[in-house]
Amino acid sequence: MSLRLGDKVPNFQAKTSIGDIDFYEYLGDSWGILFSHPADYTPVCTTELGKTALLKEEFAKRNVKVLALSVDPVEKHLGWIGDINETQNCSVDFPIIADDDRKVSELYDFIHPNASATATVRSLVVIGPDKLVKLIITYPASTGRNFNEVLRVVDSLQLTANYSVATPANWTGGEDVIVVPAVSTEDAIKKFPKGVKIVKPYLRYTPQPNVD
Ligand code: BEZ
Repeated sequence: MSLRLGDKVPNFQAKTSIGDIDFYEYLGDSWGILFSHPADYTPVCTTELGKTALLKEEFAKRNVKVLALSVDPVEKHLGWIGDINETQNCSVDFPIIADDDRKVSELYDFIHPNASATATVRSLVVIGPDKLVKLIITYPASTGRNFNEVLRVVDSLQLTANYSVATPANWTGGEDVIVVPAVSTEDAIKKFPKGVKIVKPYLRYTPQPNVD
């Protein structure tokens, strides 16, 4: 099954490094990030999972629950977590799904047969509290993801969800944001008391609403 932006994510039950979970129950009302990696005991994945663990506070601040997945069993995950913690100076305490029957990978389209018939690619899905897909990115096995970019995208998605603003190219936290086209200029002036800069009728900036 392929997943697209705006689709409702499928629920599943799975064995993980922290015990059995029901995905929807685990997420509760939080945002979620589910990301796949090719296999345990591989170098790029070791750095990615370490980086994710080190960003624990950043994900918590944004009310995001993170889950990793590979097609290896729990016992293998547990041994590998020891190596990740040792080499990346971190403590992996988010769940790593043991998808040895590939049930979740198939549900979420994490196996791309022309890249590898057996291993999952490096896909990452951001899921809103409404359980809808907000973002999908897919990298090849040989390229580690940029987790600062993942946080930046979550910030952008949350600004859109909470304030009806979009973020321009290369935006980073604290910079001006864009009033979405669905909001009229008249309404924007009322809605954004910090001011609206009208460059063109369709290109209107306002200071990021949730920072001082
Ligand atoms: C890795 O996961 O580290 C990896 C997998 C395949 C090729 C290169 C790196």
